[in-house]
Amino acid sequence: MEDHLLCDALKHKICSPEEAAEIIQNGMTIAVSGFTLSSYPKEVPLALVERVKTTGETLKVNLYSGASTGVELDGAFAENGLIDHRFPFITNKTVRTSINSGDINFADIHLGKFPQDLMYGFFPKPDLAIVEAVGITEKGDIIPASSVGIMPQAIRLADKVIVEINTDYSMDFYGLHDIYMPKNPPHRGVIPIRHVGDRIGKPYISCGKNKIAAIVFTNREDSHRQMNREDDVYRQMTGHIMDFLQSEVEHGRLPKNLLPIQSGVGAVANAVLSGMTEAPFEHMEFFTEVVQEAVMDLIDAGKVSMVSGTAISPTPSGLVRLKKEINHYKKYMVLRPQEISNHTEVIRRLGVIAINTPIECDIYGNVNSTHVAGTSMMNGLGGSGDFARESYLSIFAAPSTAKGGLISTIVPMVSHVDHPEHDVKVIVTEWGVADLRGLTPKERAVRIIENCAHPDYRDMLRDYFERACKSGPLQTPHILNEALSWHQRYVDTGTMKIK
Ligand code: COA
Repeated sequence: MEDHLLCDALKHKICSPEEAAEIIQNGMTIAVSGFTLSSYPKEVPLALVERVKTTGETLKVNLYSGASTGVELDGAFAENGLIDHRFPFITNKTVRTSINSGDINFADIHLGKFPQDLMYGFFPKPDLAIVEAVGITEKGDIIPASSVGIMPQAIRLADKVIVEINTDYSMDFYGLHDIYMPKNPPHRGVIPIRHVGDRIGKPYISCGKNKIAAIVFTNREDSHRQMNREDDVYRQMTGHIMDFLQSEVEHGRLPKNLLPIQSGVGAVANAVLSGMTEAPFEHMEFFTEVVQEAVMDLIDAGKVSMVSGTAISPTPSGLVRLKKEINHYKKYMVLRPQEISNHTEVIRRLGVIAINTPIECDIYGNVNSTHVAGTSMMNGLGGSGDFARESYLSIFAAPSTAKGGLISTIVPMVSHVDHPEHDVKVIVTEWGVADLRGLTPKERAVRIIENCAHPDYRDMLRDYFERACKSGPLQTPHILNEALSWHQRYVDTGTMKIK
């Protein structure tokens, strides 16, 4: 324990999770560490839930995080009705249900912009920050663990900070992080990242002794998700993406080692990254948000030179590997605040290849990443918008159908727009690639239907498009009263319900 708390003046702040949880009162706004189930606080949230269960007190808090947290925080809080407002991204099913039923107030926000919105004062200031850390320095500054997310803003803005020091991470994690906070306009300068691995900040988050109100020790693991999926659909999509990138290299539009890659969350992203192990690309770089386990595999296979992200989110066995071999992985990785990992200035400068997953795409190339049937929140758009707009190439890849073939991923008109046609360059399904660059809306429709739609739905989509074209001299032909009838049909059958 002493190795992790280097500041003697803070030793009297060590306490039990129950004592730390006493700081939390009804109505507080709490900002926490954690990003994609990576390195969120667990002990104090669980102690708070226990307190509420035992005392029967009424307590609700507003909860901010970088992105999703696990069952010990999002899950336990939602199950016990402790969340009033929740921003900016979730994946927990209980939270999702409560958002859609109106029990939790939620808004979907670009993850790269949320920290800035906090610093601009667009959201109520957090009263308290609860962060998981590897350790605390001599001066009372904080060394993050496997994610950074909004930790710098949470610590800067909160009146008090509770630190959960997780001793299951060794102090060798020191040096993995690069903490840089831009000033607010009109004093903001250039973010001087010119290469994926450039370090422009400090290896710790400035906090200072005075703000730290409690320190709790733990060795509890994150409840990571296993998301790898191996089947023909995913293999085919991966094959199409690899062939497409290879052909871009052959046409001289990409260098041999590609440009820095961003890959989103979920099964598709994992499959694509796994497929890269077999691909002919060497010395690859990643400028991404979440570093998935497949990236660690690519490092081990000698295929990756440098990786920048805000969180590492492996499976439980991958986490064990990361902790054991951090000195090896640290040579190839840098973790930044999400404001910087997802910063559009840097994404455009580096020329990132963004690969994300839609819920559905329409025949003109608009993408819905968040709302099932236009109405029910799935997870949020995460960083997909930060990357799609400013990337060199924005690729959206998904299976051509969902719910066992009952729903077509390609629809006449998306029921909600997260990424407009202008930000979508390439769509990929297991059937092929629709390269939309340089195409007009009508040309795009033909290419998407013929190359990407499932054969079971192609005739229906062709029929819709042909009738829409005949309905008048239109730039983007639609039959408005019919456009969303596809979704209505699914809603009527009950298949659009989300868990
Ligand atoms: N209509 C209805 N439901 C759909 C659907 C559609 N067109 N397409 C997918 N779904 C449902 C699936 O059935 C599944 O539901 P279930 O959990 O009830 O079984 C759920 O969406 C997730 O789909 P899955 O096939 O498991 O894919 P995934 O794990 O790759 O996730 C997204 C897909 C779109 C939900 C996920 O990628 C996401 O949240 N994206 C937005 C955020 C993002 O892009 N972040 C990356 C930025 S770095």
